[in-house]
Amino acid sequence: MTTPALLAELGTLVRERRTIHDYRDDTPPRETVLEALDEACWAPNHRRTEPWRFTLLGRACALQVSALNAELVAAKQGAEAAEAKLRRWSAMPGWLVVTCIKTPDQMREQEDYAACCCVVQNLALTLWARGIGMKWGTGKVTRDLRFFQLIQADPATEFAVGLFWYGYPAEVPKQTRRPLNEFLKIIE
Ligand SMILES: Cc1cc2nc3c(=O)[nH]c(=O)nc-3n(C[C@H](O)[C@H](O)[C@H](O)COP(=O)(O)O)c2cc1C
Repeated sequence: MTTPALLAELGTLVRERRTIHDYRDDTPPRETVLEALDEACWAPNHRRTEPWRFTLLGRACALQVSALNAELVAAKQGAEAAEAKLRRWSAMPGWLVVTCIKTPDQMREQEDYAACCCVVQNLALTLWARGIGMKWGTGKVTRDLRFFQLIQADPATEFAVGLFWYGYPAEVPKQTRRPLNEFLKIIE
């Protein structure tokens, strides 16, 4: 039921959610994350395909993904950059991968990806409401075949929507948005 208080809280939640780059060391409880994920799944999805798949990564798997990412960085930017990335990635508290089921129907796949993006934004908000921040990553590692082996997914049937870090924010960055009228056209 809509109330002025709910409207105000929802507006604040949507406006104040930020992509978090730096986290405290402690990892949020798994039950809290699963609760937020369960709520997030009430996202719209055309033809009710529920195309999203979630993989929570434990420490060992997260470290293997970090090492794979460092290998990719080393090939492009050298050993020093790779070492820095490895250190940063290894320190990330919570890890989640969202994949989308592939389909030969291009229109349906586009709609399924859109539904996955809705679930992700829902999750960003349901986590934020619990004091947990998140970051969406779509780096090269998420398209590497070895990444799919590590997350035990078949790249023939799923593609990665993103690799998500989550945890309690160490710092909440500032953001701005341009005024709505820069993007809006009204046709009477
Ligand atoms: C599809 C998608 C992919 C993204 N991939 C990355 C990424 O690879 N690295 C990154 O730092 N941020 C990534 N982001 C987060 C954006 O950079 C972030 O949303 C933007 O800076 C605005 O900040 P805000 O979320 O705090 O409003 C991604 C966001 C979206 C929607």
